[in-house]
Amino acid sequence: MDGSLFLSLRAAHILLAALWLGAAFLLSMFVMPAVRDVGPAGGQLMATLQKRKLHAFMGGSAALTVLTGIWLYWLFTAGLQEQVMFSPGGLAFGIGGMCGLLAMILGGTILGRGFARMTALGEKMATAPEAERAAHMQEIAVLRGRLGIASKFILVLMIVALLLMAVGHYL
Ligand code: HEM
Repeated sequence: MDGSLFLSLRAAHILLAALWLGAAFLLSMFVMPAVRDVGPAGGQLMATLQKRKLHAFMGGSAALTVLTGIWLYWLFTAGLQEQVMFSPGGLAFGIGGMCGLLAMILGGTILGRGFARMTALGEKMATAPEAERAAHMQEIAVLRGRLGIASKFILVLMIVALLLMAVGHYL
């Protein structure tokens, strides 16, 4: 592959990974706890974030990070040559890549569906009668707890991927 194309691919992979991981860190450590702290207004904030296409940004940056990563892995292992794949560097990029792939799958399924459900419940609450509101509030609280745990687990997977990739060339 042409040297400048390889460098562009590598730079794109690192930029996309930085955007994805940075956004996931901010959401998991600051935005979600703040949404919980502010009470009912938190639901409106979630709905606004969804309208501003947060889910598309997270899904798009995750998918492009993984796609560029798989392409880089193909180049690094010279087309999946076993002796490179099972070398220390190959294992670091391979295991890191699996962590990144798993983070994308879990983020798209558990978090994607959970946030969509929470946003829908938050919108329903605005017009629902008092009796239904309590049930919606309880479902939102349960969802919030589950999503909090899931988002931290996904964040750990992404950090493991980042650390393995940071050292992969030097093993
Ligand atoms: C959370 C997801 C990911 C993060 C944070 C991430 C981060 C990074 C970073 C920072 C580098 C640069 C390492 C250096 O300068 O030595 C890198 C390189 C690399 N990444 Fe990822 N990455 C992710 C996902 C993936 C995936 C899913 C794959 C697919 C197997 C992958 C494959 C690679 C490869 C092969 C390289 C080395 C490219 C080269 O030959 O220089 N990455 N990654």
